[in-house]
Formats: sequence, structure tokens, C-alpha cells
Amino acid sequence: MTGLFDPLQLGAIALPNRIVMAPMTRSRSDAQSVPTPIMVEYYRQRATAGLIVSEGIAPSRHGIGYCRTPGIYNAEQVAAWRQVTDAVHAAGGRIVAQLMHCGRIGARFNKAPDAETVAPSAVRAAGRIFTDVAGMQEQEVPRALATGEIAGVVEEYAAATRHSLEAGFDGVELHCTSGYLPMQFMAVNSNQRTDAYGGTAENRTRFVVETLEAMTGAAAGRVAMRICPGNPFNDVHDPDPTETYRALLSRIAHLGLAYLHVIRSPHRDLDAFALAREHFSGPLILNDGFDGASAARALADGKGAAVSFARHYIGNPDLARRLREGLPLAGFDSKTIYTPGEAGYIDYPFAAS
Ligand SMILES: Cc1cc2nc3c(=O)[nH]c(=O)nc-3n(C[C@H](O)[C@H](O)[C@H](O)COP(=O)(O)O)c2cc1C
Repeated sequence: MTGLFDPLQLGAIALPNRIVMAPMTRSRSDAQSVPTPIMVEYYRQRATAGLIVSEGIAPSRHGIGYCRTPGIYNAEQVAAWRQVTDAVHAAGGRIVAQLMHCGRIGARFNKAPDAETVAPSAVRAAGRIFTDVAGMQEQEVPRALATGEIAGVVEEYAAATRHSLEAGFDGVELHCTSGYLPMQFMAVNSNQRTDAYGGTAENRTRFVVETLEAMTGAAAGRVAMRICPGNPFNDVHDPDPTETYRALLSRIAHLGLAYLHVIRSPHRDLDAFALAREHFSGPLILNDGFDGASAARALADGKGAAVSFARHYIGNPDLARRLREGLPLAGFDSKTIYTPGEAGYIDYPFAAS
């Protein structure tokens, strides 16, 4: 029977256990989207995870949406990420970069002056977004990408994949949920295009397929994707997620992704893990709301190959050991999740030995 502490091969990446640290935006980069030294320490502390998935990282300056979030599109950022990956590797860990292009989610105060807000269609997302300089702001009205520009955005992901390997990451995960650019293409309200990227499920998933093709071309065996079928976060709507994700997964089957990271669907009648299992033959990482016992059960039941934990990793840098030894799990301070500085970030203690 498979357990949390059995080793696992994900494409070219070998894990000593099946406990994955899920991606978490923590807003500790500098104002130029360069990772800071406290991020080196944060990830180093969590290196006993079987695999760390980094916070969302923008593939281009246009992909930044939130304040103090990192990028991987210039040499300074690559050098700073190299400090992170070296520290994780020296501590015996593995880390993949999550590539996150926010598309229409963002405010100009969070972006470089020469960055644009682009999306499938010029449709503003409902809701407001935090900025350091001007407090809460309406989401930007995006500029719709012209058909001829889309290949350039796909190339940004390919370049970011190459930069991630150069920075020492073990692989890359495409952030394909939470209403960011890839999901804006897949949803029907944010994608009102009439070209080959809009309309049918096949057309709405074309951007993601082309992006994954470009990424796997740059890093075979080291590319993965994260999905959450039916997730309405950031004002995206899909009336038939089963059909959309069936179309997507069947069209990427030939790419041999290292893994598929699946978040439970918010729709009660949609079993995202079963849907993924049906249409994806590689390893699944399961996520959302797991603790040690439910994670062990999910693996024993054959629902997936590994389980990822996000919130438990905020206050438990040594989560893997705590789960192995049945030690109590610490909580965390919600006030310091996104605040700059060390507090609530690198000051959560390890369990006493
Ligand atoms: C503070 C915070 C930041 C997050 N940032 C990201 C992110 O950058 N990328 C992503 O795919 N998911 C992000 N998530 C979602 C988590 O990866 C995860 O799916 C969610 O928290 C449910 O898992 P859990 O029950 O183990 O916390 C974030 C969650 C939290 C709490």
C-alpha cells in the first residue's frame, strides 16, 4: 500500500517522500519583482518536503498582478532565484517554479511603468486588488491580445522555463487555475474571442496546449500543470468544466507531463481527482484541505501519487517530520501572510527534537 513516505518519480524529478509543499504567494519580493534573502531562508527551512512548488512567478513583466511578487524574466531575478534553489538543494530538497501570468488580474500600481495588462478579451474582472501605494483598486481593464500576439506570450513562458532551469529549479509548473491568464482563455466570460482561441472547448484550451508544448520543448520531463476544474476565483465562469478539462487533458496527453497538480473542485458534483485520473495517465498531486490522515487515506485509496499542503506549511516548516512522527501541527498568523519582512514568514519554529 502506497504511503506518504514512499519515494516517487515525477518525470525526471525523484522525490524521497510524497509530501509536497503547495505554491503560496507570500509577497516578500522587492518592488522590482526580485526575490529577497528572506525568501532563501523560507524555502531552505521547508526543504524536507518531497517537493516544493514555489509561489507563482511571472514569466514576463506583463504577467505581474500583485505587489511584491517575483518574476523570472531578467538576469537579476534569475541570479536571486539561484540563491533559493542552491539553498534548497544544499538542504537536500527539490523545488519547481510555478509560472503564473496574471493576465487581466492586476492593478497598474503593482506593475512596472512599461508593463501592460493583457487578456483574451477586453473584459474587466469584477472585484478589487490590493496595492502598496494606493490601497484597494479596481481591477484593470485589459487590452485584448491580437491573434498574432499570442505566440509571443507563449514564448514568454518558454523563455521563463529556460530561465527557471538556468536558475537551478528542478522543473516548472504552469499555473492554470485561479482565474489567471490560462484560465481566462478557458473560461467563457473572460474569453469572448471569435478567432481560433475562442468559442469551442478545443479553441478555449488552445492557448494552454500551445504553452505546454513550448514549455516541454524547453524542459522535457520537467514540466507540470496545476488545475482546479470549475474554480470561479477571480471572476471566471465555465458552464461545463467537465467538457473543458476533458478537451484539455486529452490534447496534452502526448506531452508526457511530469505530473498534474489537481485542486478539489468547488462544485460538489464534480470529482476533479476522478476527472483527472480518467483523462491523464501520469502521476497526480492532490490538493486542498488535507491533513496527514486524510492524505494517507487518499494515497492508500489510489486517488493520486502525492498530496500537497499549503496552509500547513506556513506555520510548520518541518511538516514532513511532524506528519511522520505524529507531532502536533502549529497554526499561523493570518495578519502576516502577505506583509513584507521576516515576521510570520521565517520565524515559525521547528518542532523540538
Ligand atoms: C497564502 C496563500 C497563497 C497562495 N498562493 C498560491 C499561488 O501562488 N499559486 C497557486 O497555485 N495557489 C496558491 N494558493 C492556493 C494553495 O496552493 C492551495 O491550493 C490552497 O491553500 C488549498 O490547500 P491547503 O488546504 O493545503 O491550504 C495559495 C494559498 C494561500 C493560503
